[in-house]
Amino acid sequence: MIPLDIEAVRGDFPILQKPLPKGLPLVYLDSGASAQKPQCVIDKEREVYENYYANAYRGVYRFGAIVDEELEGAREKVRQFIRAEHSDEIVFTSGCTMSLNLVASGWGKRNLKAGDEILINEMEHHANFVPWQQLAAQTGATCRFLPLTDDGRLEMARIGEVLSDKTKIVAVTGMSNMLGTLNPIDELAKKAHDAGAVIVVDGAQSVPHEHTDVVASGIDFLAFSGHKLYGPSGVGVLYGKRELLEQTAPILFGGHMIDRVYKDHSTWASSPAKFEAGTIQIAQAIALGAAIDYMGTLGMDKVQEHERNVLEYAYNRLQEIPGMRIYGPGVEHRGAITSFTIDGAHPEDLAQLLDRKGVFVRHGHHCTMPLHDLLGVSATVRASFGVYNSRDDVDALMDAIQFACQRLRLT
Ligand SMILES: Cc1ncc(COP(=O)(O)O)c(C=O)c1O
Repeated sequence: MIPLDIEAVRGDFPILQKPLPKGLPLVYLDSGASAQKPQCVIDKEREVYENYYANAYRGVYRFGAIVDEELEGAREKVRQFIRAEHSDEIVFTSGCTMSLNLVASGWGKRNLKAGDEILINEMEHHANFVPWQQLAAQTGATCRFLPLTDDGRLEMARIGEVLSDKTKIVAVTGMSNMLGTLNPIDELAKKAHDAGAVIVVDGAQSVPHEHTDVVASGIDFLAFSGHKLYGPSGVGVLYGKRELLEQTAPILFGGHMIDRVYKDHSTWASSPAKFEAGTIQIAQAIALGAAIDYMGTLGMDKVQEHERNVLEYAYNRLQEIPGMRIYGPGVEHRGAITSFTIDGAHPEDLAQLLDRKGVFVRHGHHCTMPLHDLLGVSATVRASFGVYNSRDDVDALMDAIQFACQRLRLT
């Protein structure tokens, strides 16, 4: 396979061409929080506003028709990207968080009752944790936890202890936003189905970095955000198998989602309209289609290989730092994320000192408080990589960490 032309990729991202004050180059290592946007995505959003903007699914005049066509085109691109069977299985939402809440409230409240169980685990982002806690509180169901191994993987050997015919939902992340762990989704889906449960996959981190095939993997619901996939913020996706979306109640009510409104009751349209009440994120959803085209042009195989290469380099080099502790499994089980602490350095101080060198990382609990509790740390520093990062960025991170350690008098 011809490797990714990293210089050409970097050239696609205007923000990377602009030095920071004092001429410092930008070293952006926070794609796990939100990815930068290629020119084609920025251009697409602008194209909508400059050339044919109108509300969606309302006007028969020509702009309305163009917007509808573009939106349905974007929906079709999402369908192909995650290899879903039908485009009515693709719902535009405001983001991964809303998609997961839609499943918990729309499907969960209808299908769970006291005594039922939801299987989660401690590596989940709060977006794939709190909605299940709430669902349990509202229905009388219980959250069970699949234990984690010491190196931050799901302890699959113990799944029989927590998965049973009481389990109605298995909710799991495709890739941990803190540990980077890649979870065995196909195996989990099979086990969930054997137990009679549905599997809900939080794809916020996995979809931008790994091939996704909802049918081959047996995924029932998949949630992800546009902004981590090099697309605009404000738009996300919920994929649901057609028959499951039919069983899902809408959680937002109003225009567009209805079939017929009477004075005393209303009936609903079918999916996806049923879940897209009000004016949706028109330009953002259309530009998400451009982001997917962009990833398709790069090729997900090449993206995966390139990020793996950068990750391996980072993982090995970070271990040169005295007092370094990297959380999570070895590189063979992780995607392009490394979270770490350095003995004697507070993560916030570290992140601030790295910023002085133009290296942007995230610090804190990364919306994974139960995981930090389990690991016995209150905060970590996270370097997460995207298509535009290279080994040079890792070298810059290393130099910046050495600078920070000197400032903190650790060396
Ligand atoms: C694993 C994971 N799930 C869910 C989310 C929530 O995504 P959003 O804030 O775009 O809704 C994030 C965001 O960081 C994440 O990393």
